[in-house]
Amino acid sequence: MSVPEPFASPINARTRYCAVLGWPVRHSASPAFQNAGLAALGLNWRYLAFAVRPEHLAEVIAGARRMQFIGLNLTVPHKLLAFQMVEELDATARRYGAVNTIRFEAQNPGGEWRPLAEFEGEAPGEIRAQGFNTDAEAILRALEEELDFEARGARVLLLGAGGAGQVAALKLADAGVEALYLVNRTRQKAEEVARRLAGTHPGLRVRVGYPAEAVDLVLNATSLGLRAGDALPLDTGQFSLARARGVYDMIYCPAETPLLQAARAAGCRIANGLGMLLHQGVRALEIWSGRPAPVGVMRRALREHVYGDV
Ligand code: ATR
Repeated sequence: MSVPEPFASPINARTRYCAVLGWPVRHSASPAFQNAGLAALGLNWRYLAFAVRPEHLAEVIAGARRMQFIGLNLTVPHKLLAFQMVEELDATARRYGAVNTIRFEAQNPGGEWRPLAEFEGEAPGEIRAQGFNTDAEAILRALEEELDFEARGARVLLLGAGGAGQVAALKLADAGVEALYLVNRTRQKAEEVARRLAGTHPGLRVRVGYPAEAVDLVLNATSLGLRAGDALPLDTGQFSLARARGVYDMIYCPAETPLLQAARAAGCRIANGLGMLLHQGVRALEIWSGRPAPVGVMRRALREHVYGDV
């Protein structure tokens, strides 16, 4: 597999670094598509991946700060932990209660905190970490781009009320969906999410259980479909996929889960979670670099890395 990564110069003493931290991290596709993006921007940066135990996360973030890394991504299981480990939280991190992106910052001569990318050589004075959440916006971006999904006024059946499901529920509610049906193996978790949303979004119809009406979107945020032989994440006896316009599965490997296969057979528009992964990374690169990210290049590198095609 030849991933395009034409860096103009080899690593040298001026090279700056970003990294994803996870436990485990071997599966991460982020280095492949982030390095393609960095190269296309002509930056002398590299994007690395480190397997970090949760109990060592604070030390590793502190080390990256001292080594003047540009920024970090956090993946499972670090997103909630990192929330406690940054000095500053931007509005997205506060809203979604989790940090998947850290940007290191220093003060310019005017006392303003600016991204480390703007400082040549050694940054002056203290360096702080600011936390962001780019996952939530990525969900909507991917849904719009791949399913022409328009959140305002939409009806959605959301499967899963774990970490990813909760972020999706809140983002969809914030984006103005009209009705949200929540289904989760552990019903109590879905009930908690529904209670919270009912309090904060009075215009939203939020219910626990399957809809009697047709929906614009079924969104799978459970892990069912990752492993061969997994059951479908929904009970087709209680909700027929023929009543869904579009079906999105946050899983991207396999490329077509049993849910997506069933949805295709039922005539739904379908898309898998690769677009979410892409857009959370695109936004992270923009946060670090302050420049528009080369989305097309990153998308091709990601597809090639994950599926071996372009
Ligand atoms: P993530 O951060 O990816 O959302 P998570 O918080 O562990 O991970 O959530 C996993 C989701 O998949 C949950 O909705 C979980 O249901 P429970 O809340 O009942 O645990 C769901 N899930 C995992 N395995 C499942 C299974 N075998 N059957 C049904 N749902 C499952």
